[in-house]
Amino acid sequence: MNDLTGKKAIVIGGTSGIGAAVAEALAARGAEVVRASRSTGLDASEGAALTSWIAEQGPIDHLVFTAGSQAPGGAVAALEASAKVIAKELAPIRVNVVSPGLTETEAYAGLDTDERKTMLDGAASRLPAGRVAQPQDVAAGYLFVIETPSVTGAVIDIDGGALIN
Ligand SMILES: NC(=O)c1ccc[n+]([C@@H]2O[C@H](COP(=O)([O-])OP(=O)(O)OC[C@H]3O[C@@H](n4cnc5c(N)ncnc54)[C@H](OP(=O)(O)O)[C@@H]3O)[C@@H](O)[C@H]2O)c1
Repeated sequence: MNDLTGKKAIVIGGTSGIGAAVAEALAARGAEVVRASRSTGLDASEGAALTSWIAEQGPIDHLVFTAGSQAPGGAVAALEASAKVIAKELAPIRVNVVSPGLTETEAYAGLDTDERKTMLDGAASRLPAGRVAQPQDVAAGYLFVIETPSVTGAVIDIDGGALIN
């Protein structure tokens, strides 16, 4: 486990699910972690507020964005291709995408227990890996790109093999 003592990380979406798992993993490595979401007063859909909030944080080493509970939509499609272009433009700052498949998080808390189990078990049985990801599985992808200084412009798929199905 790498030592991130002295590093500062911001996790926008860090109060639940995948983001919470990333925040916990970073903190376990000694990083100073700031978790943000609407419940802490930051709505990432408000661009100007987001920009000024990040500026208020001072120097940061790692910015993780996991906010939202649905597949990305809105003004930008093509998020993965955009990240590659941004990685080139911002170099040597590194930019990577972690792309989860179905992951068992609070995002599915609205389903009743039986319905959720049926959905997750059914998905696991169809996936090549034979399991639905846990938040810690996806957090491992974030930690990999954070801790590996030669990784930039990459897309890390953690989806149980959904894309090869
Ligand atoms: N779980 C899956 O199966 C799955 C599959 C594919 C992709 N993803 C993607 O993975 C990311 C994380 O999903 P998750 O399952 O971890 O969801 P989650 O458990 O529901 O957590 C979502 C987090 O985002 C925050 N958030 C939502 N809207 C926000 C906003 N407008 N501004 C700031 N924070 C906001 C939430 O906190 P507040 O409610 O306090 O704002 C929470 O901390 C999402 O982008 C989702 O689309 C998830």
